[in-house]
Amino acid sequence: MDIKQIDNTYVAETYARFPLEIAKGEGCIAYDENGKSYIDLGSGIAANAFGYADKVWADAVSRQANSVQHTSNLYYCAPGAKLAQLLCEKTGMKKVFFANSGAEANECAIKTARRWAFKKYGDESHAGIITLVNSFHGRTITTLAATGQDTFHTEFGPFTPGFYYAPADDASAVRKLAEENGCCAVMMELVQGEGGVNALSKEFVADVLEIAKEHDLLIIIDEIQTGNGRTGKLYAWMHYGFTPDIMSTAKGLGGGLPIGACLMGEKVENVMTPGSHGSTFGGNPVCCAGALSIIERLDDALMDEVCKKSEYIINELTGAKGVNSVTGMGLMLGIDTVRPAKEVLMGCMERGVLVLTAKTKVRLLPPLNIPFESLKKAISILKEELAK
Ligand SMILES: Cc1ncc(COP(=O)(O)O)c(C=O)c1O
Repeated sequence: MDIKQIDNTYVAETYARFPLEIAKGEGCIAYDENGKSYIDLGSGIAANAFGYADKVWADAVSRQANSVQHTSNLYYCAPGAKLAQLLCEKTGMKKVFFANSGAEANECAIKTARRWAFKKYGDESHAGIITLVNSFHGRTITTLAATGQDTFHTEFGPFTPGFYYAPADDASAVRKLAEENGCCAVMMELVQGEGGVNALSKEFVADVLEIAKEHDLLIIIDEIQTGNGRTGKLYAWMHYGFTPDIMSTAKGLGGGLPIGACLMGEKVENVMTPGSHGSTFGGNPVCCAGALSIIERLDDALMDEVCKKSEYIINELTGAKGVNSVTGMGLMLGIDTVRPAKEVLMGCMERGVLVLTAKTKVRLLPPLNIPFESLKKAISILKEELAK
């Protein structure tokens, strides 16, 4: 049996895989088992922030793997402490809880908000959390409950209670839910990724901040896909001119290793106490060493480059044949296509370019440091496929 047959036989069928085995990678280029190359505009769904086998990241990871690969959380270990310090210094947040994935980072965000409310009110009367229709917050039972998309809910109930959904960009719906339910937080992605790469409007976000103030709600921002330089700033909330009370992130943070983080602001920095939350592998030294090497390099010069590449893609594709619209921010872009997005994806793959889809759109999440030449080549192939 070849790898595809073995995988199809033994790996649980939760993924509809494309007929492509990635055997090797270097920068933005993936190679299949026959050596055919592909310009990868998906980055493992925004995880490989600096592409495949990035030298600085790989060196940091292997140095740490050759020293201490894991301790328990009963002991101090440098990489997690240094990463938490760097994240707090760069964001103004106060404390960090490390998890292993985006969903787990969100679990921590939800638990933190609920405990904050419990300590404040002395009971569960304000456990509600308002999230948005079309959001995506993860696959655990609670983060599925937070996810405002029915398709993910079918056949997995019952769910964690206490989540209320408002349409994105409908502030009056958020207000109504806050008035009618005992809530502690509003949780949202500033660019809904899986929901179709749609950025929330600045007006809506400003209104939500106002409603939160009036109803004493925490603001939880899910930066799992948008975070770590993806939108052209370190975190997407930096485009909107406010600081959240709680922020979750994952994906690009680890540069391709599994790590999630829940960052806690001033209001909630002391909510979690010893024993209130934990994770065996949370803050794993190898993952944290890799993440440090990523976050250290997300400077203004790189963010400028992300913005320039974003502009290039938007200019090339807006109004191009076969394109209805381009949405998103930075290097997190969605293309509303005339042809079915899946057909465009398959056509691109055939011609050595990997793209993603989100709902009915083609989605692009290239490595932040993709060379301009590779980007130009990939976009010209994509344009031809879009125009067919
Ligand atoms: C916005 C958002 N939140 C949460 C998640 C869940 O992250 P993970 O798959 O690492 O659990 C995702 C994954 O796509 C995401 O895009």
